[in-house]
Amino acid sequence: MKGVILAGGTGTRLYPLTRLMNKHLLPVGRYPMICYGIDRLRKAGITDILLVISKQSAGMYTDFLGSGAAFGVSLTYKIQEAAGGIAEALELAKGFIPSGERFVVLLGDNLFTEDLAPYVEGYLRQPEGTAKVLLKPVSDARRYGVPVFDSSDAGWIARIEEKPKQPKSEYCVTGIYMYDEAVFDIIQRISPSQRGELEITDVNNLYAADRKLSYDVLKEWWSDAGTFDSLREAGDKLKDALP
Ligand code: G1P
Repeated sequence: MKGVILAGGTGTRLYPLTRLMNKHLLPVGRYPMICYGIDRLRKAGITDILLVISKQSAGMYTDFLGSGAAFGVSLTYKIQEAAGGIAEALELAKGFIPSGERFVVLLGDNLFTEDLAPYVEGYLRQPEGTAKVLLKPVSDARRYGVPVFDSSDAGWIARIEEKPKQPKSEYCVTGIYMYDEAVFDIIQRISPSQRGELEITDVNNLYAADRKLSYDVLKEWWSDAGTFDSLREAGDKLKDALP
């Protein structure tokens, strides 16, 4: 199984630091942020990894990570030319994923301590053409994609509301996604949002509308390190997490 880490974007909430370098290279504990996602995939046995990065800082990624060998993985790099959204970045993985294979996608600023393997194993038992997202209860769900469940839930999400003013659940949809190649057709069916980006929530909602989006809830610590507060919290939490 292959993995994809989406590490482009402009990181505006971390200006001015992210004018200096891409968000996913900022220090978290003793390592650049990107290393933690790589480590989570490697621990789950996923060592063939595509990094989707931006032009900004591209040389710094290769300087630090190289082929990935020093980190126990094999890295492929693709450049997302402009910040066109998470789903546009994901589309760049087409061609990296062999026909018929399933894969795991991480947003590079999503940091967590839990082993992904049991969730991946659960996903591999799902029918073809379905997807899975991991959820986490959060104190301010309005900052995230928020799942909506209905009475016939049974492990499938009814829909996701992106950054709702009045969240219908206390969960956030984390940036940990599992798909098969059907996702590339689904990306073709969505249009840019009001902010001009292809949104991952629109992709996931097409799955949800057909009752094809399952979920699990992360049990351990999770954070997106996209703000100064969460970046500092992640640095404290993960300061001894990597060797
Ligand atoms: C993105 C997704 C959102 C998700 C979040 C997790 O938001 O659009 O659904 O909850 O990642 O980190 P962003 O951080 O790009 O605003």
